[in-house]
Amino acid sequence: MASTSVKVRVPAKVNLQLSVGPLRPDGYHELATVFQAVSIFDEVTARSRAEVGITLTISGEGEGDLPLDTGNLAVRAAQALAESVGIDAAVDLHIHKAIPIAGGMAGGSADAAATLVACDALWRLGLPRDELTAIAAGLGADVPFALHGGTAIGTGRGDALMPVLSRGTFHWVFALAEAGLSTPAVYGQCDRLRENSVVADPRISDELMQAIRAGDAVMLGRSLSNDLQAAALSLRPALGQVLEMGDDLGALGGLVSGSGPTCALLARDEEHALDIAVGLSAAGVCRTVRRASGPVVGARVSG
Ligand code: C5P
Repeated sequence: MASTSVKVRVPAKVNLQLSVGPLRPDGYHELATVFQAVSIFDEVTARSRAEVGITLTISGEGEGDLPLDTGNLAVRAAQALAESVGIDAAVDLHIHKAIPIAGGMAGGSADAAATLVACDALWRLGLPRDELTAIAAGLGADVPFALHGGTAIGTGRGDALMPVLSRGTFHWVFALAEAGLSTPAVYGQCDRLRENSVVADPRISDELMQAIRAGDAVMLGRSLSNDLQAAALSLRPALGQVLEMGDDLGALGGLVSGSGPTCALLARDEEHALDIAVGLSAAGVCRTVRRASGPVVGARVSG
């Protein structure tokens, strides 16, 4: 019997480096970034539907707070895919979310990427990866990486990807905040903070690339960097306490994830990640903590 439902699992991301260059005429910033997909997953289920239309329900993180219409990138992803092949979209979508919303971990982009993969399978389109990637790039700068996963350098808006060979597994603790931060607001604040300085072209650190290739967590910890961090900290000064606490707990490095407000702390190993998570929880400096490892694969059909 033909399958009538497809489930896709998709990871969150952390930027190991986020080098932000000048503002471009199209409102985006020129980036040089290194993404790593980490094991915090959303799950998108696409179910076939008799009538034309797209419905969406959400459970988990952000339940009740997220739009369920075209204001949600997942709905726009299903629409964009149907339009690209000239069919009417007919699908019931459900997203079970674990990735924090407006958290700097690309949760909305992840859901869009998972929706593309799920609808492609449900509607038996079999689009090649590069076509899905092109549709993904039209939806948002982080969507192609959520399809791809692993570790990758992103240039341009962050959507021109080049895979990076990475050795071993890195262990992370993510500190989730009470309320999200708007990505455009954080980029805007970054522009204001740099108003009177010359903004250099973005560049990837050689030490960071060496650390990833060698699987060297100590070297990675000291080469983590995020040009949006000062902006996120100025909008949410309490994040400074999370990073300080990470330092006190012996994290190899720590930074604001993407545009924040989630903070990422790098641990020596799984046991150390547990120690950091317990210490952070006890200190009460964040809403909740999640342990995760990376790199992991991108959006894939599961089950
Ligand atoms: O592409 P996406 O909709 O995810 O981007 C959200 C916002 O983040 C953009 O509207 C822009 O304000 C900011 N952004 C940026 N430069 C980038 C990526 C995102 O300024 N390279």
